[in-house]
Amino acid sequence: MAKILCVLYDDPTDGQPTTYARDDLPVIDHYPGGQTTPTPQGTDFTPGHLLGSVSGELGLRSFLESRGHTLVVTSDKEGAGSVFDRELVDADIVISQPFWPAYLTAERIATAKNLKLAVTAGIGSDHVDLDAAISNGVTVAEVTYCNSISVAEHVVMTVLGLVRNFIPSHQIVLDGGWNIADAVSRSYDLEGMHVGTVAAGRIGLAVLRRLAPFDVQLHYTDRHRLPEAVEQELNLTWHESTADMVPHCDVVTINAPLHPETEGLFDDKLIGTMKRGAYLINTARAKIVDRDAVDRALRGGQLAGYGGDVWYPQPAPADHPWRTMPHHAMTPHISGSSLSAQARYAAGTREILESYFAGTPIRDEYLIVEGGALAGTGAHSYSTKEG
Ligand code: NAI
Repeated sequence: MAKILCVLYDDPTDGQPTTYARDDLPVIDHYPGGQTTPTPQGTDFTPGHLLGSVSGELGLRSFLESRGHTLVVTSDKEGAGSVFDRELVDADIVISQPFWPAYLTAERIATAKNLKLAVTAGIGSDHVDLDAAISNGVTVAEVTYCNSISVAEHVVMTVLGLVRNFIPSHQIVLDGGWNIADAVSRSYDLEGMHVGTVAAGRIGLAVLRRLAPFDVQLHYTDRHRLPEAVEQELNLTWHESTADMVPHCDVVTINAPLHPETEGLFDDKLIGTMKRGAYLINTARAKIVDRDAVDRALRGGQLAGYGGDVWYPQPAPADHPWRTMPHHAMTPHISGSSLSAQARYAAGTREILESYFAGTPIRDEYLIVEGGALAGTGAHSYSTKEG
């Protein structure tokens, strides 16, 4: 029997909701391109309910306990003596989420002698030291595609929010004011602008598709070039590298995983090559950009706006400079944790666990590391320190 350690974000400040804003979710059984949404043999939760916080337990407790497994759920993940550190030593499986990442460092993996499987209930497994997982034979899996469209919607919202100066304009209303000039003196139309994405995988391509009707000029760079038919359909300009692309763009959106190729990519030098007054949107991972370089570029006017939902570390400390820098559209890490996305990542986590316990293969597209090497989506989208 296995011990499953699940690290989730805290419950709402007023406790788990007893009612919800809406009664149902749209039924979606395929993602764009044909991949099916998760197909577990069963689920024990109501789609549309809060599943990603501690009391939501990803809807896993009765499934696991009825089979004799032990489930420990906690949000306490930091500092010596945390529940996460205490329970990790004999855990067989760790489940964590990018929104509230349980950082599975090489040191922690070394203490977790029973650890065989690390599941990301979401997408993006950079909170796991993949090199350590590889050398310790730990399988790493995530629920590929479960919240890619959720993030793409957040990106489009943030692009429009920044370019149109929505957030300060809304603040004027909240403050009881009516100074139109204050609101519009930083407000532009997106129409005609050049928009580029760093990576055109599931999220990046969905962003391109959603922005095409705004009559913008679309650009992308990716280590895998898109099919020619897609480039033609969306009138895409492909660039060999991020450095080649960004000087052409008014808006840049980052949609690549965090791995050795992308860590620290947007530093003072690269940001300095962007058009003055460009907007940078990062819902991928905070460490892809240099924290202080972004702050400097906003204060100096090189960037007209920065937005997204990813920080380092998470939760972000109260004095994190991105909370107070000018012209930002930051949220806590929420874009991939809508109630819609939660139903998919809870079901996908259950599907991965069912496969693991049955000894049947985990879907290839869910795999990041298996058998001591990058595998599945991991082999497609990540690199290790060795390359
Ligand atoms: P995906 O695997 O479909 O696409 C990733 C793309 O990045 C691939 O096309 C890959 O070729 C490309 N890529 C990798 N290294 C690159 C490099 N050095 N330069 C250019 N392109 C590169 O993954 P998906 O679903 O699009 O997600 C991407 C990332 O977004 C995740 O790894 C995660 O970090 C982040 N994410 C954030 C969420 C949030 O809630 N804010 C939720 C979901 C994902």
